[in-house]
Amino acid sequence: MAWDGDRLVGMSGTKVVGSAGSGYIWFAGVDRAYRRRSIALAMKVLTMEWALSRGLVRMTASHNAASQGIVSLNRKLGFKTTAARQYVTRGLWPWMRNT
Ligand SMILES: CC(C)(COP(=O)(O)OP(=O)(O)OC[C@H]1O[C@@H](n2cnc3c(N)ncnc32)[C@H](O)[C@@H]1OP(=O)(O)O)[C@@H](O)C(=O)NCCC(=O)NCCS
Repeated sequence: MAWDGDRLVGMSGTKVVGSAGSGYIWFAGVDRAYRRRSIALAMKVLTMEWALSRGLVRMTASHNAASQGIVSLNRKLGFKTTAARQYVTRGLWPWMRNT
C-alpha cells in the first residue's frame, strides 16, 4: 500500500503461487490524482524485492491489455507477454437466474 499521510493512494496485491517459487501480482491501482509519480513502479519493485527475500525466483502478473499505463509499466519492468493463460468473458442473461 502507498500512503500520503493518512490517505491511501495506491495498492498492489501479491501472492505466492504453488510450490514452484513463483509470485503473482494480481492488482495494482493508484489514485488518479497521484498517477505518473512512480508510485506503481515503486510498489511493484518493492513487491519483487519482497518476493526475492522469500526465496521466490519468478514473478507473474496479469493486466488489462486495454490499460495503456499498466501495459507500459509491466513492459518497463521486464515482464514478457505469454499465452500461458487467457481470460474469457461473456454476457449474462436474465434466464440464467433460474438455472
Ligand atoms: C496503471 C497504474 C497503476 C500506473 O500507476 P502510476 O503510479 O501512475 O504509474 P508510474 O508513475 O509508476 O508509472 C511508471 C511507468 O509506467 C508507464 N506508465 C504509467 N502510466 C502510464 C500511462 N497512462 N500511459 C503510458 N505509460 C504509462 C510509464 O513508462 C511510467 O514511467 P514514466 O512516468 O517515467 O514515463 C495507474 O494508472 C492505475 O491505477 N490505473 C488504473 C487501474 C489499472 O488499470 N490497474 C491495472 C490493472 S491490474
